[in-house]
Amino acid sequence: MNKPYCIILLLLISFSTYSQNSKGDADFLDSLLQEMTLLEKIGQLNLSGGAAGIPVIGKGDAREDYIRQGLIGCSGGIKSQRIAVNESRLGIPLIAGRDIIHGHTTIFPIPLASACSWNLPLIEKSARIAAIESTVSGTCWNYSPMVDISRDPRWGRIAECAGEDPWYGAQIAKAMVRGYQGDDLSASNTMMACMKHFALYGASEAGRDYNTVDMSRVSMFNEYMLPYKAAVDAGVGSVMTSFNLVEGIPATGNSWLMNDLLRDRWNFDGFVVTDYTAINEMIHHGIGDLTMVVKKALKAGVDMDMVGEGYMKEIPKLLEKNQVTIDQVNIACRRILEAKQKLGLFNDPFKYFQPELAKKVVLCQAHLDASLELAQQSIVLLKNQNEILPLKKRGTIGVIGPLAFTKSDLLGMWCAHNETDHLKTIYTAIKEAAAGKAKVLGAEGTLFTTDEYLLNRNKEEKDHINIDTQQLEKMKKEALQVADKSDVILAVMGESRDWSGEAASRADISLPECQQDLLKDLLALNKPVVLVLANGRPLALKWENDNVDAIVEAWHGGTRAAEALADVLFGEVNPSAKLTVSFPVSVGQIPVYYNQKRTGRPYDETYKFTSKYLDIPNEPLFPFGYGLSYTRFEYGTIQIDKKNVIPGELLTVSVELKNTGDVDGVEVVQLYINDPVAEISRPVKELKNFQKVNLKAGESKVLHFVITTDDLKYYHSDLSYDYDFGKFNIYVGGNSRDVQEISFELKGR
Ligand code: BGC
Repeated sequence: MNKPYCIILLLLISFSTYSQNSKGDADFLDSLLQEMTLLEKIGQLNLSGGAAGIPVIGKGDAREDYIRQGLIGCSGGIKSQRIAVNESRLGIPLIAGRDIIHGHTTIFPIPLASACSWNLPLIEKSARIAAIESTVSGTCWNYSPMVDISRDPRWGRIAECAGEDPWYGAQIAKAMVRGYQGDDLSASNTMMACMKHFALYGASEAGRDYNTVDMSRVSMFNEYMLPYKAAVDAGVGSVMTSFNLVEGIPATGNSWLMNDLLRDRWNFDGFVVTDYTAINEMIHHGIGDLTMVVKKALKAGVDMDMVGEGYMKEIPKLLEKNQVTIDQVNIACRRILEAKQKLGLFNDPFKYFQPELAKKVVLCQAHLDASLELAQQSIVLLKNQNEILPLKKRGTIGVIGPLAFTKSDLLGMWCAHNETDHLKTIYTAIKEAAAGKAKVLGAEGTLFTTDEYLLNRNKEEKDHINIDTQQLEKMKKEALQVADKSDVILAVMGESRDWSGEAASRADISLPECQQDLLKDLLALNKPVVLVLANGRPLALKWENDNVDAIVEAWHGGTRAAEALADVLFGEVNPSAKLTVSFPVSVGQIPVYYNQKRTGRPYDETYKFTSKYLDIPNEPLFPFGYGLSYTRFEYGTIQIDKKNVIPGELLTVSVELKNTGDVDGVEVVQLYINDPVAEISRPVKELKNFQKVNLKAGESKVLHFVITTDDLKYYHSDLSYDYDFGKFNIYVGGNSRDVQEISFELKGR
């Protein structure tokens, strides 16, 4: 073709109908779809990656070539975006997705810890900040929030979720979606959220990651689905499927889950992406070959194929054989284009690349301060015998233990960036906080573990640590010398960040043996010992609770974890966090959670044939909602404004709360409801509301909670969402165990 013809042709292409429509309206997408070839459409459904064992069509230069050909719809980086926009036939921009789970560069506490703050506005703010820091470097789509409910601390991914309660999980889901997406998804500092993992991933059997799940529909609707639905109600733009089965069919190929429930019943109008290679994994589930599983996924309403490239390979063949329809491809493609449109990518594909702004916002003081505040509010005081805490800044403080000298572990699992320059070790933070007043000595005392595999998990070969018994003895000796010189000992123990998160299940959730041994040696010195824990899951702490004076659960608290901890230990901040997950007495109790169903043989110590263990109690060591303060709170008698209500009427529950201690404090007051006689057996208690209350020393306040008839509804055996008439019990207290009770009746008109 000679040059002038070429130019005319190019002009014609660029002046095609799709580019004439305004990029924000539906016509624009209609015209665009009409111009797209089949392969370009399938390309939009393709999230390029590169997983071990998966033949990758889009690697390295090949990937760039695929982008050029319009065969990849989602990928990150400015270079890729330039190729997509400037060199592909239709110039369709890429959407760039990432896992920004608890902050981008300013890292917040792991989600399980943040949940313990019961501070929804601050959690929302942490998501807002994550969006601000992510969007300046190209990311406009976040594979978060993870809203799975988990009752199993063995499961490493419990660190990523809000804990065991569906109602509270739903509040967090809404806050996170609002935080990421803001009011205007097309703004350059908001990003599209992706609620995951739909559905039931948190119920993996035996707490083993990627394991199977099985549960009844009433259980899933009442106990697991609330947070997913809440995210949809909050307008989440996308949803990620889970790896597990839902009623025998993998979620990724489950048409009931995506089409009937998510889209038809919940009116979700965004797009669905698979989890990483989840389509291909259906082959392992025994559902069929690649052709079959691709067909199932597309028919189930799954729009985007993450990494597996099954859609690329199989959809053309399936179309030829009339096993899927072009409508199905068009619908999926349109949903992805709509997402790009909502983000404003067609108007400005480069709006999310702002290196100058990045210098100002990433790790700015306001973000670091928010991280500190959330970390302070996430630290749970589990035990404080003889009020050994807060620590006085005097004498000599011994800071001993492997977790006192690490930075990166405090960031926790799954960080987008492992920035540690703004992070202090716990030892340094304590030393700085006490400077000029108390002497602070430190020693590691032992390794994280003497299990060589666990110790070296995720380490590169050059960093491999060999277990050296002599070295271990030397470490212990040094620590005991430090302890000997100290007036009070902070034993800083817990888990490495690699022991929680994805593919990090643990069958033994106690402190590793070498840490326990060190703790025992420290206790043998008969000095006051505070056990400070930095970990990513509930631990089994029976021995520690029986023997140590004070226990502080500091979790993996993010960029400002160490300073937040020092503030709490020295009483600059009065701890107020409350657990959102039960801590078991031992692994044998799992699953142990507060909102359990009743048994026909309730525990009775005088009768043999009742529901119990021979060797441990039924109750967890620390229940849901539990956490102490440096002050004391006294609850007055709870009252209700009426004994009977009719549907639509409001009931007000009131209680006086008094801070009877010497310092100001914050209490999380929790309200639970129980439906004692119902169509299906209901949990012994369910959280329905809470208030986080600030009280000065000596101050009191009357709190009011309003209960609506909606709070009494649940999913019945036919899945209708309704209430039953009759008696209801209300419980109010500072945790799920220590509560007052009052009853009312819901009557017909
Ligand atoms: C995880 C998802 C994550 C995805 C992409 C998967 O292995 O299960 O939570 O979003 O990888 O990184």
